[in-house]
Amino acid sequence: MKVLIATEKPFAEAAVKGIKEELEGAKHEVVLLEKYTDKSQLLSAVADVDAMIIRSDKIDAEVFSAAKSLKIIVRAGAGYDNIDLAASIANNVVVENTPGQNSNAVAELVFGLLVFAIRGFYNGKPGTELKGKKLGILAFGNVGRNVARVAKGFEMDIYAYDAFCPANVIEASGVHAVNNEKELFKKCDIVSLHIPATSETKKSINYNLVNMMPKGGIVINTARKEVINEEELIRLMNDRADIKYITDIKPDADEEFAKFEGRYFSTPKKMGAQTAEANSNAGIAAARQIKAFFATGDTKFQVNK
Ligand code: 3PG
Repeated sequence: MKVLIATEKPFAEAAVKGIKEELEGAKHEVVLLEKYTDKSQLLSAVADVDAMIIRSDKIDAEVFSAAKSLKIIVRAGAGYDNIDLAASIANNVVVENTPGQNSNAVAELVFGLLVFAIRGFYNGKPGTELKGKKLGILAFGNVGRNVARVAKGFEMDIYAYDAFCPANVIEASGVHAVNNEKELFKKCDIVSLHIPATSETKKSINYNLVNMMPKGGIVINTARKEVINEEELIRLMNDRADIKYITDIKPDADEEFAKFEGRYFSTPKKMGAQTAEANSNAGIAAARQIKAFFATGDTKFQVNK
């Protein structure tokens, strides 16, 4: 079978090597499309492939109809909001993700960004410490759980809310469970977002919610830009000079946010899963899932059933 690795943001070289070894070892052919700048490149690359491995690459109805032989697409990563699932079903293509494979990398970045933020972006003036601060984790999935694990090392006071994870599971991992989002924002000095972008969560981080935070509140986003109501967050940051917003996903209104000097930071390009380890974990998991699909019809990680 012909497998296309289509990554506008390429994997580390070692990950590509590992993916190729897995697939070529099972007699599949691997082709690579990296750093493409135009959708037309993707449309011609997909024309004759049976399977694809992608990252945040946008796979819409036009891509599905151009990919006449496509049977499976694996998103090497967690979030699959970049794939048009209705179009995948209409075109009879299995869509899978690789849950958990890059979650440690994202969790580590949370703390890299947080220390940077609470030390005043290394401006030389006295900052503060994470120890003893109340950390709120919004969504207790693979990334949220890793954030909790690392936060324990910083001796933070950790709270979490997840609409789909029972309180007893959260409590069992040594984290205080709260009843809803509002309670989390009200209680915590720092709230770390780990919710996917869905119709329920889009723009859900809004003026009223963030305004519940205590003085000096920090929102850190390593999830998706779509969950932020940017207009309302900008309004709140104008009304409250103590609120900080730190993000790994550049907002649409980046220029507006950049006016909040010392209170806003965005990485230039999403960096959460950009480690050699995360790329290899997610990429090789994707390759193995494709191998299993063609060998035995295995669809354990299917997300478009
Ligand atoms: C994910 O959903 O797995 C992360 O957001 C990483 O995305 P990326 O592969 O585009 O870096």
